[in-house]
Amino acid sequence: MKAIALAHPNIAFIKYWGNRNHDLRIPVNGSFSMNLKGLSTKTQVIFREDLSEDKLILNEDEASGAGLMRVSQILDEVRQKSGINLYAQVISENNFPTGAGIASSAAAFSALALAASKAAGLKLDERALSILARHGSGSACRSIPSGFVEWTDGEKDEDSYAFTLAPPEHWDLADCIAVVSSGHKEVGSTQGHRLAETSPLQKARIADAPRRIRICREAILEKDFEKLASIVEKDSDMMHAVMMTSNPALFYWNPATLRVMQSVRNWRAKGLPVFYTIDAGPNVHVITLKENIAEVKKKLSHLEGVQNLLTATVGGAARVIEG
Ligand code: DP6
Repeated sequence: MKAIALAHPNIAFIKYWGNRNHDLRIPVNGSFSMNLKGLSTKTQVIFREDLSEDKLILNEDEASGAGLMRVSQILDEVRQKSGINLYAQVISENNFPTGAGIASSAAAFSALALAASKAAGLKLDERALSILARHGSGSACRSIPSGFVEWTDGEKDEDSYAFTLAPPEHWDLADCIAVVSSGHKEVGSTQGHRLAETSPLQKARIADAPRRIRICREAILEKDFEKLASIVEKDSDMMHAVMMTSNPALFYWNPATLRVMQSVRNWRAKGLPVFYTIDAGPNVHVITLKENIAEVKKKLSHLEGVQNLLTATVGGAARVIEG
């Protein structure tokens, strides 16, 4: 009745932005990501006889409201599948700051899906786990499989899931995250996905998605850094163009965000393997090769407005560590 699971967040190379079905989180386009080793969420789930409701403790603080409801929805699904009718205590801890554009929900819901199903004695395969995690947070489905991951959009609930395109050892990429603001974001992704369709640019972004996905898949399999760099920056810029032209508009960048973007482009033009990608926040993920981490971090640390740097290499699958 108890299990602990660990999962990594992931950084999207081709972004998920907008849903065909908001309740089930079936996205309007497929996406790609890389798991981030070094950053992780550890979640313990215990189904207990003595509880009269689900209990959630997040980074040592008891949570209630919307966060708890979202967790209870996943627990309800697990209770329904397993026939268990006990409430659960969920204790979750991140080793990185939450709400700073580092997709804490991806690691959180993939660890929760795995720990809860294991604690309930369910034997779900990777695809079923990915679908369960997706119901909590779309991007969480990509933190279930290992390494470089593709999420097929799918038409129905059962065919929208993520799988490994290549294992972590396939390519020694690294993510140097330039933290330019560590505050909580004002508009979260869940709300953003609903606003996406109000931008006149979203239709064009969706129509071109299969092409970007094909190029991204080829670039990863061929380990072609230049090809990956240009498609990932384009995809991130396209998502932010949609955000900026939604109604109401979402502007996540600040002056330091732009400073990092511009510097990364300049460094690449001079031969350093680097590119940027930005999620729903101001922080910039600077992707490079593992051998260039020290140089990239040094350069980033000299830029005005860069408050902190986090580093990750390519991570494995979500895994059970106890239970
Ligand atoms: C910009 O998965 O956080 O990071 O399903 O509402 O939890 P919910 O949204 P979420 O959206 C992620 C948006 C993104 C792009 C991406 O990771 O693909």
